[in-house]
Amino acid sequence: MNLDEIRGKAVWEIKGARNAEELEAVRVKYLGRKSELTGVLRSLKNLPLPERKERSVLANALKRELTGLLQERAREFSTVRGARVDVTRPGERLRVGHLHPLSLMYRRVRDIFSSMNFSVVDGPEIETDYYNFEALNMPADHPARDLWDTFWLADGRLLRTHTSPVQVRYMETHEPPFQIIVPGRVYRYEATDASHEYNFYQVEGLMVGEDVSFAHLKYVIETFLRRLFGTGVAFRFRPSYFPFTEPSVEVDIRRTGKGTSSKWLELMGAGMVHRNVFDAARYNPRDIQGFAFGVGLDRLAMIQYHIPDIRLFYSGDLRFTRQF
Ligand code: PHE
Repeated sequence: MNLDEIRGKAVWEIKGARNAEELEAVRVKYLGRKSELTGVLRSLKNLPLPERKERSVLANALKRELTGLLQERAREFSTVRGARVDVTRPGERLRVGHLHPLSLMYRRVRDIFSSMNFSVVDGPEIETDYYNFEALNMPADHPARDLWDTFWLADGRLLRTHTSPVQVRYMETHEPPFQIIVPGRVYRYEATDASHEYNFYQVEGLMVGEDVSFAHLKYVIETFLRRLFGTGVAFRFRPSYFPFTEPSVEVDIRRTGKGTSSKWLELMGAGMVHRNVFDAARYNPRDIQGFAFGVGLDRLAMIQYHIPDIRLFYSGDLRFTRQF
């Protein structure tokens, strides 16, 4: 057989091999010690020089080509046919992610308010002086602004200190009656400690209608906190002050079940929406009334999951987050 004939038959049979054994037989037949090609290569030395060179180049090229084709098919059999799978090898552990405790808490809060027909609304974290203060009944130089120190941008805007600005933003584009919650990140310019961070999360609530009263405020807040913490909760509505609500309260809870501490925990601010806030939103305060509240998501999560330091939420420490 000449080289072309060998090539034609070998390529045909390599392609036709149906498993590793057949392929090995083909390899032995065409590249083995007793194969014709090996014979050709061996007999080269007996040829006269010019012819020897030419034959040598061709024969070696053919050997390389066949070797390559054989390897290609061999790979196919070792993977596709599963002949090399070691079934005793331990499985690879899949790292499944999970939610951050603040996300867990947010979802619970959202679900409770959704069940009471509240919609979820969003607002910008970079806010104007107008929405963060002015429209909330805090004109420039109003001393109440000192309660909320924040980070100012060069262009006069600021990082919002609470989610309350979304109250006015929402009312500007919607008609009552409605009830919404506004979850989101807020910022404060202050020294951090176990219970203070320069950023944290709030959930704002706003319910407005013709006759939404303080009784509705109490009902909604108590229902929310009971669903969140269980029935063993006592409430205290303490008179307080916010520029954008009147009257205003601070809501405290005490967990009454056995094994719980009997200390009052300050939980959230709330009150009836101030008429100046309705004015800012171009509502007529004679036609409608409503209540608002703001609660710290971090605080709820700290109570629920017994987290002693708010800074842990933002530490990025996996030893912390993996516990949830
Ligand atoms: N915005 C207030 C705060 O950040 C909380 C609040 C919201 C109070 C709505 C009353 C009504 O402290």
